[in-house]
Amino acid sequence: MAAAKGYVLAIDQGTTSTRAIVFDKDMKIAGFAQEEFPQIFPKSGWVEHDPEDIWSSVLSTIRKALKAAKIKAEDIAAIGITNQRETVVVWDRDTGKPIHNAIVWQDRRSARDCEKLKAKGLEKKFVRRTGLILDPYFSGTKLAWLLSNVKGARARAEKGELCFGTVDTFLIWRLTGGKSFVTDATNASRTLIYNIDENRWDKTLLDILKIPAAMLPEVKDCAADFGVTEEALFGAEIPILGVAGDQQAAVIGQACFEPGMVKSTYGTGCFAVLNTGTQMVRSKNRLLTTIAYRLDGETVYALEGSIFIAGAAVQWLRDGLGMVEKASQTGELAAQADPQQDVYLVPAFTGLGAPHWDAEARGAMYGLTRNTGPAEFAAAALEAVCFQTRDLLDAMHKDWRSASGEDTVLRVDGGMVASDWTMQRLADLIDAPVDRPTILETTALGAAWLAASRAGLWPDRKTFAKTWARERRFEPEMNAKTRSARLKGWKDAVRRTLSDA
Ligand code: G3P
Repeated sequence: MAAAKGYVLAIDQGTTSTRAIVFDKDMKIAGFAQEEFPQIFPKSGWVEHDPEDIWSSVLSTIRKALKAAKIKAEDIAAIGITNQRETVVVWDRDTGKPIHNAIVWQDRRSARDCEKLKAKGLEKKFVRRTGLILDPYFSGTKLAWLLSNVKGARARAEKGELCFGTVDTFLIWRLTGGKSFVTDATNASRTLIYNIDENRWDKTLLDILKIPAAMLPEVKDCAADFGVTEEALFGAEIPILGVAGDQQAAVIGQACFEPGMVKSTYGTGCFAVLNTGTQMVRSKNRLLTTIAYRLDGETVYALEGSIFIAGAAVQWLRDGLGMVEKASQTGELAAQADPQQDVYLVPAFTGLGAPHWDAEARGAMYGLTRNTGPAEFAAAALEAVCFQTRDLLDAMHKDWRSASGEDTVLRVDGGMVASDWTMQRLADLIDAPVDRPTILETTALGAAWLAASRAGLWPDRKTFAKTWARERRFEPEMNAKTRSARLKGWKDAVRRTLSDA
């Protein structure tokens, strides 16, 4: 039977694994493959990936996903790419070989450089132009570190011999055989060198960080022509038509297209993103202003709250403390916790993200008694994620009021949302409904929609939004007195954990 070219491939290149997902013309998953790759920790606070590991995991998951879907590359009409954001790769323009391991978004090696820039009074400049804050989380100071610490790098970059990219750019370069050197506006908006108001690389910030403009990719809309894959790779040339950072792709996959809509993704960390429309909202509460997506030249902005530890706290219970065998058991264990015990975990294992941005804070537990056991630990770890989400939503409400005045409904996705206990506790503690969608692969779906709508295969934004369906809504059930006592206990715990406490 002749194959119809109705399939779309999403590549989701995440922090700990790479996934390739084939969607059919009805937006259903036809094939799926996932591979983990090594995490490299050269020193305390440093996190690296070998770009060759990332690249080989992308090639092999694509091939496996095509096999699982029982189709050939020629059946794929378009590719959408979504990726871990902020992670920095620098490679040789001629050979395509990286000059160093990728420095991952979690890496804190440029913390001192950020402090020095702050001491020079430069933070406001960065905030105003990029919407971000001076934190090692973002690409700019990581790239500056590479240029200063890899022998000869700056001179070569100045001569145009090196390319800088976030992971999307590196993958597109490799997939197109070095023909396309491009990124999209959402990934650019996380680099600390991109002016989100003027939509261009910012010369002033490049000068401050001593980054040569010659090494930067062209920035495109999220749905655009990013090039075609080399035929030798998969047996056919496939156009790459969609690109977005993973959290922004989840905004699209969750169909949060209207101002006021919020999604929260629970993976290793947690990232809550509020669509603020074409209006850029400047946070007064230490949230990030960022690009949600740019389509047909129109930029839609968002407020983002980033928490570094969410699912990672469950991993700690499993791998560090051995209290559960599988992460999925944590919810059941938490359900057995004694409600009379007031136990709090502040999971500042790698510092605290929004809204505190305290790189020096470290994790702590409060309220332990002789009766505290694994069930209370599990409940405290899961509740910490809920409390932190509440902190982000509170900050969002202060920065931006819904025009309709309606209460927020939170659309959730990511591995942790499978736990009913956690989602009910989340609704209880944020005091707002939590909607879990039928399709939990929202990040890949968002990337696929960008590519498929560009290819004319899937419907436009409005029609696509109507296909979003809720699997279950969790309504708040906790009484107000209990909630406010718990919130007060959490706030106290955080205050005592901050590095200047
Ligand atoms: O900002 C970091 C974020 O993009 C990482 O997401 O899902 O790869 O942990 P994830």
